[in-house]
Amino acid sequence: MQAVVFEETGDPDVLHLGDRPEPQAGAGQVLIEVRAASVNPADVKRVAGSFGEVELPAGTGYDAAGVVLAVGEGVDHLAAGDEVFGLGQQTHAVRAVLTAAARKPAVWSWAEAAAAGVAGETADRGLSLLGVSAGDVVLVDGGAGGVGTFAVQLAVARGATVIATGSDRNHDYLRSLGAIPVRYGDGLADRVAAVRAEQGLGEVTAVFDVVGKTPAEVLVSLAPRPEQVVSIANFDAPAHGARVTGGGDGVTDAATSLAAVAALADRLTIPIEKEYPLVQASDAFALVAEGHVRGKVVLLP
Ligand SMILES: NC(=O)c1ccc[n+]([C@@H]2O[C@H](COP(=O)([O-])OP(=O)(O)OC[C@H]3O[C@@H](n4cnc5c(N)ncnc54)[C@H](OP(=O)(O)O)[C@@H]3O)[C@@H](O)[C@H]2O)c1
Repeated sequence: MQAVVFEETGDPDVLHLGDRPEPQAGAGQVLIEVRAASVNPADVKRVAGSFGEVELPAGTGYDAAGVVLAVGEGVDHLAAGDEVFGLGQQTHAVRAVLTAAARKPAVWSWAEAAAAGVAGETADRGLSLLGVSAGDVVLVDGGAGGVGTFAVQLAVARGATVIATGSDRNHDYLRSLGAIPVRYGDGLADRVAAVRAEQGLGEVTAVFDVVGKTPAEVLVSLAPRPEQVVSIANFDAPAHGARVTGGGDGVTDAATSLAAVAALADRLTIPIEKEYPLVQASDAFALVAEGHVRGKVVLLP
């Protein structure tokens, strides 16, 4: 089966189009014909070898959207022919298995649905851990990327006021998502205090760090309590009383989060910065590796 593969870890140029064994849907899984799959920073890190040893040769990809070909044991809510999106493994391929899936909203393109996989699930998970609801003032640190784009909009949909960080070039974009933009980097706490005063906002009630670059002590200083900081990328955060999530936290399961994101499809903007054919996976990975994508980068088989 045609797939993106690598035989050695390293820079994105180790990737090429190759052959992988046909995937099979196990219990609770669905096999799909992939119509689009997104590129996540985790893909870049795994190919680089940052996640430890990888059994080689290996495929890439953690999410996808496509048409169900077969369902595994115990899947009774989906059937062959359904259009779905969700989380999986080796999704940068013509066929893949999803381990958590939801129905693709008709208003989404295949690329938008693929983009909503890892990024949408992660955003809903983090906001659920923080218990974000109407009346909250949420700081999303890193609002313009994949997870940030969903985190800002999902927090707004929950009724929160959102302050989001981004470089100056992304401030209009962050406003378009419903956030009050501030620049990240040194002096962040002062800038957050200034916009709160300017906008007449109360204390920040939750901090969602979706990039992992702001020191944990700064994030904690912005929250009412250390545990009201949730990070998805700063593994130093627990040393400061903050929480880190990688999934499996028990507050929400992946399929429920994907369905929650899909339910808001009419209200969500999902910018696709660039689409590439599978054969150009190394270019797509190189763009994501730069760390300044607005929205998502997507591969189309
Ligand atoms: N734990 C989990 O479950 C989980 C799940 C998904 C992702 N992650 C991790 O979370 C991180 C983000 O993922 P992603 O898919 O959202 O990445 P992404 O789309 O590549 O993020 C790019 C964005 O990061 C922003 N950014 C860069 N430097 C920043 C800084 N110092 N402060 C604030 N924003 C900054 C950029 O904005 P500007 O262009 O304005 O600089 C850009 O919009 C990655 O490390 C990823 O591996 C973890």
